[in-house]
Amino acid sequence: MSVKFDRFLYGGDYNPDQWLEYPEILSEDIRLMKKAHINTVSLGIFAWAKLEPEDGVYDFDWMEEIIDRLYENGISVNLATPSGARPHWLADKYPEVLRVNEARQRDLFGVRHNHCYTSPVYREKVRSMNQALAKRFDGHPGVILWHISNEYTGECHCPLCQQAFRDWVKERYHTIDEVNRRWNTSFWSHDYQNFDQIESPSPSRGEFSIHGLTLDWRRFVSHQTTDFCRMEVEALREAGAVKPVTTNMFYTNSFVNYYELADAVDVILWDSYPLWHKGPETLTAVNSGMQHDVMRGMKREPFLLMESCPGPTNWVPVSKLKRPGMLETASLQAIAHGSDSVLYFQIRKGRGGFEKLHGAVIDHYGKEDDRVYQECRQVGADLEALSAMNHAKVEASVAVIYDWENRWAIEESAGPRNENMYYREAVEKSWYAFRKQGVNMDVIDMTRTLDPYQVVAAPMVYMFRPGFAGRLREFVNRGGTLIMTYWSGVADENDLCFLGGTPGGLMDVMGLRSTEIDALYEGESNTVKSLDSDAVYSCEHLCQLVDLRTAKTLYVYGEDFYAGTPALTVNRYGEGLAYYVCADAEQAFYDDVYAKILREAGVRRILEQEIPDGVAVSSRQSGDAEYIFVQNYNSTPVAFVPRAEGGRVVFGEAGEEMRPFSTVVIEKNC
Ligand code: GLA
Ligand code: ZN
Repeated sequence: MSVKFDRFLYGGDYNPDQWLEYPEILSEDIRLMKKAHINTVSLGIFAWAKLEPEDGVYDFDWMEEIIDRLYENGISVNLATPSGARPHWLADKYPEVLRVNEARQRDLFGVRHNHCYTSPVYREKVRSMNQALAKRFDGHPGVILWHISNEYTGECHCPLCQQAFRDWVKERYHTIDEVNRRWNTSFWSHDYQNFDQIESPSPSRGEFSIHGLTLDWRRFVSHQTTDFCRMEVEALREAGAVKPVTTNMFYTNSFVNYYELADAVDVILWDSYPLWHKGPETLTAVNSGMQHDVMRGMKREPFLLMESCPGPTNWVPVSKLKRPGMLETASLQAIAHGSDSVLYFQIRKGRGGFEKLHGAVIDHYGKEDDRVYQECRQVGADLEALSAMNHAKVEASVAVIYDWENRWAIEESAGPRNENMYYREAVEKSWYAFRKQGVNMDVIDMTRTLDPYQVVAAPMVYMFRPGFAGRLREFVNRGGTLIMTYWSGVADENDLCFLGGTPGGLMDVMGLRSTEIDALYEGESNTVKSLDSDAVYSCEHLCQLVDLRTAKTLYVYGEDFYAGTPALTVNRYGEGLAYYVCADAEQAFYDDVYAKILREAGVRRILEQEIPDGVAVSSRQSGDAEYIFVQNYNSTPVAFVPRAEGGRVVFGEAGEEMRPFSTVVIEKNC
């Protein structure tokens, strides 16, 4: 199912449930929203106590009135199920809905996103609420989308979750002998005699030395969260809901494997809060651009930007204002990477509570002669001007692998660097090097197909998930170019180390065996040197040593006892090429090496020109039109005139230079 709306969605989280005693505010908000081109709001995300003031007593009239009024004014609704925060009465009456932490202590009532996802009572209460909401509102023409809960996260160690975990383990491995084998429990004599002995990991009071257990616990938490989401969706569907469903994700969530949760919803929705103006914008832009690509890569379909902040966020150590133009640039970055929306947290600033000082379209001041409001209005106008691009696809022939389970395995592994393995940074380096060449890229996990791609980078693929090694082999064999890095193919999906040499099962494809890995202290470095030019780059953190079989050396280490041994290699396998990057080299190494690899693989660049530093190029395609986005993230003007053969500028100005934080869109036939 590809979810398409008739326009770019523009708006954000709106909490009229905090304003029911101020009828004049609602009217004023609608006026201000229309003036800012807002066409969509997300309603009811944290409104459970107002929707069900007492157990089993629903009050939906106020919500219907608001949806009606918004609809009459051309504003659609993304309607939430309110399970992200529970009412007081619910926790008081049914304490099992409260989470238990890893030290086995139960929470008190408070804050949000902290429910037991196993609790039958919590599931039943949410199910009944969702069914009632679906019956009342799914048929409303103003409701266009269901927003399931909010930012599912966290874990619970209560007795109900322990039992569910045991059941999950049993279903996966059938016998306790198989569990012992897969988890290698003979280590420290931790063999299980029966399933009842299995407990979630507890670094403070119990087990955390069995990596098979810690990894499977994280898988279980993700599974249980996804199962809860599926239950919520099912409740809506059982009550007759036909509108699409989604749930909002956030990039740093380590509790949920989003590639798994993605399959439970119709469209990807995510919350983006880059720390603009903390360090160079160009680096922040890399970080946030990659996050957009991760989100789009899950379904390889346009996604929705659910939350972003019009002004400063208030949960960061320092709440810096967005410089003029930054909001527009950041919003259009999402569009450039495949978003069909720009939605904010929040439309109006609340009067009290934790988020009263969080940026919003409408300030406490409440009027339109306000800088942030005016910038929001500009973004609304931009999206109307760009409306032809709604639902255009991002076509990528390059992919970078980023895998949630691999990230867990690297984090849990105990060595070779417990300070920081820099996995995400390694993925970012590959992503950035490709992006600098102006090519579109998908970021995908190890379960996704490699068929659409000419070039695939697989940084630090420590754990080979089932089928992944076979897909890589097939990809290279049929002519693809693979770039794998250090610390790859070390362990299987149970975090059991491969026997007989690494990368496990792919030594012939890579043409080498990785032997030892040297971990460097912070501040230490080595160098990597080209064999056919003067190029020298520094490297840090991790240096993999390799034994060559059929691969050829392109770069060697410059220092230490392994000076002169391979640091970058290439191997021909079948119709394709397999590169191996041995060390955590500086960005410039990746930039230069990847530029050459893309050229040799014949990957089409979006613009033929050299792209200056800090300028990002990406594109979306619809029918025979390609929309090329060029954005300057430098805080200074850049002498660059983007040109595409046969293209015409449809947004922004392509003059002598690009202004700081500015965007140009060129349309051309493809
Ligand atoms: C998250 C939540 C929102 C809000 C914002 C504030 O993303 O989903 O409810 O708290 O953060 O930035
Ligand atoms: Zn629980």
